[in-house]
This record gives sequence, structure tokens and C-alpha cells, in this order.
Amino acid sequence: MITMHIYKINGGKPLNGFIEADGAKNAALPIIAASILTDEVCLLGNIPQLKDVENMIAIAKHIGSNCSGDNANCLIRIETSKIVNSEINYNLAGKLRASFLFAGAMLAVNGYVKIAMPGGCDIGLRPIDLHLKGFSLMGAAVVKDGGFVTLEAPDGLCGAEIYLDFPSVGATENIMIAATAANGTTTIKNAAAEPEIVDLANFLCEMGAEITGAGSDNIEIKGRNKMHGTIYNIVPDRIEAGTYMAAAGAAGGDVTIKKVNPVHLEPVTLKLREAGIYVEEGIDYVRVVSGGRGSILPIDIRTLPYPGFPTDMQAQMAAFLTQASGTSLITETIFENRFQYVGELNRLGAVIKLNERTAVVSGTDKKENVFLTGTAVEATDLRGGAALVIAALSAKGETCVSNVEFIERGYRDITGKLSSLGADIISYGNC
Ligand code: UD1
Repeated sequence: MITMHIYKINGGKPLNGFIEADGAKNAALPIIAASILTDEVCLLGNIPQLKDVENMIAIAKHIGSNCSGDNANCLIRIETSKIVNSEINYNLAGKLRASFLFAGAMLAVNGYVKIAMPGGCDIGLRPIDLHLKGFSLMGAAVVKDGGFVTLEAPDGLCGAEIYLDFPSVGATENIMIAATAANGTTTIKNAAAEPEIVDLANFLCEMGAEITGAGSDNIEIKGRNKMHGTIYNIVPDRIEAGTYMAAAGAAGGDVTIKKVNPVHLEPVTLKLREAGIYVEEGIDYVRVVSGGRGSILPIDIRTLPYPGFPTDMQAQMAAFLTQASGTSLITETIFENRFQYVGELNRLGAVIKLNERTAVVSGTDKKENVFLTGTAVEATDLRGGAALVIAALSAKGETCVSNVEFIERGYRDITGKLSSLGADIISYGNC
């Protein structure tokens, strides 16, 4: 008998209190990959305990890293004294998109890798052509065959000038990692500028790399420095924190999220304020005060590369805007298939229509007593799943969210954190 894991949520309760954000998943994953660049010990702190992190560590171990963790303190120790495996099969790489970041790291440290095409949430085509273009311009031989990519640079990589046709986060990270070992200087033009790129660059610099411009669209990496072990703390997770901000905004209440970088949250903060929500920014916290349904104004959102509005917050904001008193437009410009959750939100009584890359979200009307109503829904991907939780917290009656494994790829203890804020949410096995 297979035991499924589901969340049962009784909505309609405001959220109140304090929670802490974890370390950023999307910074931890590339930093774990980059840890294999040295044979010395890397000690990583503020590592979120998530399935994606576990899967990334499983790949590091397969490659030859000695990894041990101290879960209570969110620490991991990685030591890669010897590469023992240069091939990464689909069982490992298929579990998450970020597995492909080992391509750049292995090219740098080993000059060869054969890696299965990556897996991950189905939110669009998610090609890897920009990663491969970067490796190829640095002199690597690139062969795609039978679901694998083989990269080879037996004589080492050369610095190159690389223009990204789109500021891809993963391609910027992969090229930055590989370029630390290249002979000469690599420049990445039209680079991604997300805070997780800056965190990776800071980590690489702590290891001995020379990188300037991270956080802008022009990054320069001087290669061939000796990389060494280091101790490094991962940045706070702006998407996890933003999700709880949207939840507090939708359900109403007074929630403070500690251990965040409010600057990284600015696009979310400013959009919530535009919708009439009170958001206070401290040095390392944000506080959201909301009257919930009926007090939220409709707004329009367009996802863009950082510092634009993050695509990873698009679904959660759609759930939030189902509580607005009017119609909002949400346009997704990064991924072509990121509205899969809409059908499930509509099952809860939301009225969202799709027009190509724009979702037209009709709000609920407090005066006319139009509510979302609890029912059984299914998470379709990580952030879409988080959107269902937000909607369920605002809905009347009981919602059962299934496929929560998707949600737990990006949120540690979401039920515990929301319960501590007064939500009626439990996680249980369903046969
Ligand atoms: C990362 C994040 C993900 C986030 C996304 C955009 C991690 C582990 N994941 O994903 O949560 O939603 O950034 O902020 O950090 N593209 C190409 N060719 C490529 C690479 C990308 O065309 O070689 C396109 C993609 O199809 C997509 C766009 O570029 O349309 C953005 O993708 P990218 O920034 O690469 O996202 P990821 O690194 O996969």
C-alpha cells in the first residue's frame, strides 16, 4: 500500500506572530555544486533541510565528496579529496534542475563530465542551450547524445566573452563556476543579477576566485586561482519569506518574518503595498499587517528577471489576489508553462481566466459574500502548490492539498510554521 502525504487546511483564520526564514534553496544548490572545486573542507551554514538539498548532496557524494550534516544547526561539511565518478545518471540528475550545475563544476575540476539532462518542476521547456554555449565558448567539446551531455576540456578551459541571449540564472551560475578554472578572464554579458548569483559569487571569492560585477548584468571572472576550503553562510530565502508575506496578506493578520534581507524582498514588498497592505521593513525582518479579504486592492504584476518581480512568486500572488476587491492581471514572461495551478485555484472557487501569458484574476467581493470554498486540490509544482496553501488558508471550510511533495521541495516545515501563526493546517498520511 502506498501512503500519500496530504495537507488538511481549515481556512478563514487570520495569521499572527513571528516566524524565521530558512536559508535560500536556490543559493544552497549552486554553492553545494561549487564546493567540489576544492579538495579542502567547505563548511556551509544556514542550509535549508529540503529534499532538493538532499538530492544535490547525493550527487556530490556520488562524485566522491565526503558529506556530513548537522541538521539541528543547518550545517553541512563537504570535502572532495578525489573525484571518483565522472558520470551522473538520470536517477540522480533527473531529480532536480540544479543537478546540471555540477556540469560547470566538474568541467572546472575534472576536465570531463557525462551528465544526464536535468529534471525539475515542469514549468516550461527549460532548455540548457545557454549553459552549453558558454562551455563551448570556453573551449569545451560539447556532445549531446541519448539524454546525456558530455563535456570535455582535457587541456583546460579558456577565458571567453559570453553574451547570454536571456539572463538565465542557471547559465550564469554554471559559467561562473566553470570560469574559475579557465585560463584567462571570462566575461558574462547580460548576466542574471539575482541575489543567489551574488551569494554564489561571494562564496567562490571566499574560496579564492576573483569575480567582479556579480549582481549586475556584466560579470567578470579571472580564472586559474587556487581554490581552497572555506566557511560560508547561505543568504535567507526571499521566495520562502515572500510566500509567507503573501499568505499573511491574503488571510489577514499581523505577521513578522525574521532573518530575511528586506532588500531582496523589495519587489514583493512594493507590490503588496500597492495592493493596500502595510509592510514594515526592519534591518533583518519584514512585518505584514493586512485586513485580508475586502481590504486588498487589485494590482497588475509582470514577472521579470531580478530586480523585477520574481517568477517564483507569481503563483502565490495570484492566490493572494483572489482576495482582492477587483480584477488583477498577472503576466508571466519567464516560463511559458507556469499557470498550471490555475485550474486547481479555480476548483476552490477562484475565477481566473488565462489569455496566453496573462492570467486575469477576478477578486472576491466581501459585500456580496463571495468566498473561496475548501475542496480537494492537487499541487502541480512547487510554487503552484504554495499558492494552493495560501488560497486554502483564505477559503471557507476544509481543503485537502495532495502532491505536497512538490511543496516540500522548497518549504521546510510549512505546516509547523503556519500552525505557529495560528493557521489550522495539519500534514497527514492518506492511504
Ligand atoms: C532558476 C531558479 C528558479 C527560477 C528561475 C528564474 C534555481 C535552482 N532555480 O531556475 O527557481 O524560477 O531561476 O528566476 O535557482 N533558458 C534558456 N536557455 C538556457 C537556460 C534558460 O532559454 O540555457 C530560459 C528558460 O527556458 C526560461 C528562462 O531562460 O525561460 C529563465 O530560466 P533560468 O533563469 O535559467 O532558470 P533556472 O536557472 O532553471
